[in-house]
Amino acid sequence: DTYDFGLVGLGVMGRNFILNVADNGFTAFGNDLDKEKVNSLIEEGGDTNRINASTDASTFVNSLSAPRKIMLLVPAGKIVDAVIEGLLPHLDEGDIIIDGGNSFFTDTDRREAYLKEKGINFFGAGVSGGAKGARKGPSIMPGGSRGAYQHVKPIFEAVSAKYKGEPCVAYLGPKSAGNYVKMVHNGIEYGLMQLTSEIYDLMKKAGGLTNEELHETYASWNAGRLQSFLVEITSDILAQKDDLGDGHLVDKILDKAKQKGTGKWTSQNAMDLGIPVPTIDIAVSMREISALKTERTQADELYDRPTPEAIVKDSLVNKAEQALYFSFIITYAQGMHQLADASKEYGYELQLGEIAKIWRAGCIIRAALLADITEAFNGDNSLQNLLLSPSFVKKVQETVDSARELVAYGATSGIPLPGLSNALTYFDAYTNSRLPLNLIQAQRDYFGSHTYERLDREGVFHTDWE
Ligand code: 6PG
Repeated sequence: DTYDFGLVGLGVMGRNFILNVADNGFTAFGNDLDKEKVNSLIEEGGDTNRINASTDASTFVNSLSAPRKIMLLVPAGKIVDAVIEGLLPHLDEGDIIIDGGNSFFTDTDRREAYLKEKGINFFGAGVSGGAKGARKGPSIMPGGSRGAYQHVKPIFEAVSAKYKGEPCVAYLGPKSAGNYVKMVHNGIEYGLMQLTSEIYDLMKKAGGLTNEELHETYASWNAGRLQSFLVEITSDILAQKDDLGDGHLVDKILDKAKQKGTGKWTSQNAMDLGIPVPTIDIAVSMREISALKTERTQADELYDRPTPEAIVKDSLVNKAEQALYFSFIITYAQGMHQLADASKEYGYELQLGEIAKIWRAGCIIRAALLADITEAFNGDNSLQNLLLSPSFVKKVQETVDSARELVAYGATSGIPLPGLSNALTYFDAYTNSRLPLNLIQAQRDYFGSHTYERLDREGVFHTDWE
């Protein structure tokens, strides 16, 4: 009963995470039903004397020091409940279970309440950064009991990614705050991925850039204000040659994007809250449209598309950089807006500056922009939307015109830019004090006597329109 940390689920993420814990000087005990995974972990970590593992839940739990800190890195859903049930008979009051998966936030609330009755602390802690992040330093987003977090804090701070020496982990709030924040992180991830891919398409079709040129373009962007993990890996991806044939691998990959649901949950919950996140919505829809490959191929035969007029490369690359920067800002703005509202709705008491801060390194949406976003929210935690921050006005104002030009170009050329055009439309609507929804109110009142309010006097009105 001397091991500092326990981890259930020795898949790629779990195995990498536990090795990371041991690298940082802690002792850690792994658990998995699969004997092979247990043995290979002991083999790899054994010579450090800091790692051990077992397939047996009782041996596992009894190897841990009190209060036990047990992290689960297993697929979200029923498996989490099953693992918890398997551990429960062996646990003592005050022990801590941390779900590191992408669990749906209401599942986390249910589990937290259930375990609280038994005196067990439950954390939902989103972990971002993929397999490499888990091994070398992820961004960790924990929510649960603030008191119990103190026991986990030293380990999480040690294993997390560092941004200029600061750990990319912080206590975020009670209950499912951690899973909720990770869900919105993934929604933003979907948006940024959609945007990077459509800008790639545009530069190929409008400017005739080769993969090599695209690789260099993304690499040069990554050296500037667009510096981010997703831009960086896009540059790498565009350079990758195909092992199985000629040319570049990216050209051989089937254009059907899969999804595990976290982006969709972000959109669904934003709808429930009544907060618009259209760039995230469209990113989910585009994965759905992409999946309809057979229908798309059929429809492609039925309709003509304009032939894009070529744009001079340098000017295109320059505008594309601005448009991408603009639309990245809009995507973060939407996600942060959702978090601000969810915080009130669910009582998370989120500090948006803290969230942006722990996203600066380790996670999939890490970007230079997050340092500016951190500052904006640290300066004003009640900021509803990043677009209202004085520090963002100039960044947006300087880049929006390129977004306009490219969206117009995409529309006349038949190149779909759904993320970019959505970000632009959102911007134009959000920054407009007078929208035509007065007409919708009139229509609602016309056909359903739903009433309307007026600009010029107080009260609720109904008109007999006929
Ligand atoms: C991360 C990622 C990760 C997510 C994958 C796959 O932060 O490390 O968000 O948690 O599971 O990106 O998501 P999709 O399969 O839905 O694209």
